[in-house]
Amino acid sequence: MSAYDVIIIGSGPGGYVCAIRCAQLGLKTAIVEGRETLGGTCLNVGCIPSKALLHATHMLHEAEHNFATMGLKGKTQSVDWKQMQAYKDDVIGQNTKGVEFLMKKNKVDWLKGWGSIPEAGKVKVGDDVHEAKKIIIASGSEASSLPGVEIDEKTVVSSTGALELGKIPKKLVVIGAGVIGLELGSVYSRLGADVTVIEFLDSVTPGMDGEIQRQFQKMLGKQGMTFVMGAAVQGVETKNNKATVSYKLRKDDSEATIDADTVLVATGRRPYVDGLGLDALGIEMSERGQIKTDGNYKTNVDGIYAIGDCIAGPMLAHKAEDEGMACAEGLAGQQPHVNYDVIPGVIYTHPEVANVGATEEALKEAGRDYKVGKFSFMGNGRAKANFAGDGFVKILADKATDRILGAHIIGPMAGDLIHEICVAMEFGAAAEDLARTCHAHPTYSEAVREAALACGDGAIHS
Ligand code: NAI
Repeated sequence: MSAYDVIIIGSGPGGYVCAIRCAQLGLKTAIVEGRETLGGTCLNVGCIPSKALLHATHMLHEAEHNFATMGLKGKTQSVDWKQMQAYKDDVIGQNTKGVEFLMKKNKVDWLKGWGSIPEAGKVKVGDDVHEAKKIIIASGSEASSLPGVEIDEKTVVSSTGALELGKIPKKLVVIGAGVIGLELGSVYSRLGADVTVIEFLDSVTPGMDGEIQRQFQKMLGKQGMTFVMGAAVQGVETKNNKATVSYKLRKDDSEATIDADTVLVATGRRPYVDGLGLDALGIEMSERGQIKTDGNYKTNVDGIYAIGDCIAGPMLAHKAEDEGMACAEGLAGQQPHVNYDVIPGVIYTHPEVANVGATEEALKEAGRDYKVGKFSFMGNGRAKANFAGDGFVKILADKATDRILGAHIIGPMAGDLIHEICVAMEFGAAAEDLARTCHAHPTYSEAVREAALACGDGAIHS
């Protein structure tokens, strides 16, 4: 048995970042992880492996569609699926080993095994019970299925199984047009699968700006993905490694079925808190199964805190990281702050989609007077050179004060471009502040400046 200032349960981006910050602030820290490798869902079966497959298949797309135009001729590309998987696994390994290195460097002990909390101040891992002045739960989330749909990770898969399919399916049905469905749907679409996405709502990516949703669906449709919108999946039947998905159209209650080699269930995730012993501790949970916390990430039980996907808020690695740092700083006596109004969201398809702050729909609903500055990547020289002219940057600013309220980008490197707007928003900037900042030419980021200019006297290149 060892005694620590802090024990963190879970080594995903929330947990491991929190551990590093605790150690940097002089707290004796341990992290509990039952997986063979550190890094949680994000590094092992989420963000990182999916980005490897998105990158590889985007390269394939470039080779198939744009190489010849650029005068690059020669052997046509073919897909070695085993090698692509090996590349992805290598990327995972590099990242998870990186986290292990960081734990050692910061003198954070890795308590290997699944942890539980027998009582405040104690964490049990295997047969060992460790003492901790503070316990931070960072146990993350897991895929949630639908009634009538059983995930076997072979024919009917969650995102985890979708990252390691034995072969590329001929026909893939994706249930849910959220982030996971569209990212992994595009991977397999580029690999030649016939991909159909069935979505309950009438638009893709719920909660995003409406104009972006429409443009995004149109672009994915052009890339070959089929959408069945306004359809509630009723169930999936499997037989001889094939599946039949049945759904009901909401507009007229008509029913239909569709066959598939593989079905990806991407209908959301739920907090993962199994086996922690939260019931016995009397920890308060929300109706959605999240651990309830106060502004300092403290639960209703003294000495026990929670961060990341297992508490309220968007299930995003970077939100968990920010909470991890803030929670550690709070325990060390500092007064941290996470600005939940400026948390970017990114979808890593091609083109990428990124957003921060309010959508146009939300501003309308709030009755706020706003203006829109929009700029198409067609007017951006760099984008044209790189076959990336589809898409736009849209900045929403307060009509009277010009303060930036939100931004929505669909286009090349959108996930990187969004951050200058995040920084501007953190500083309470006006669109004019962005517009008057010199942007290097030729870069994609000029499109952000042009959208800011469009909030004032007008963009130059449109
Ligand atoms: P999601 O909540 O983004 O989307 C789920 C979709 O499934 C919704 O559009 C919903 O309307 C639809 N749906 C629900 N029930 C249905 C039914 N019976 N029939 C048809 N459609 C139905 O969930 P997703 O994509 O599984 O992602 C889970 C979480 O992981 C999200 O919080 C997401 O933000 C996060 N994530 C983030 C990534 C990123 O930031 N790039 C990447 C992957 C996941």
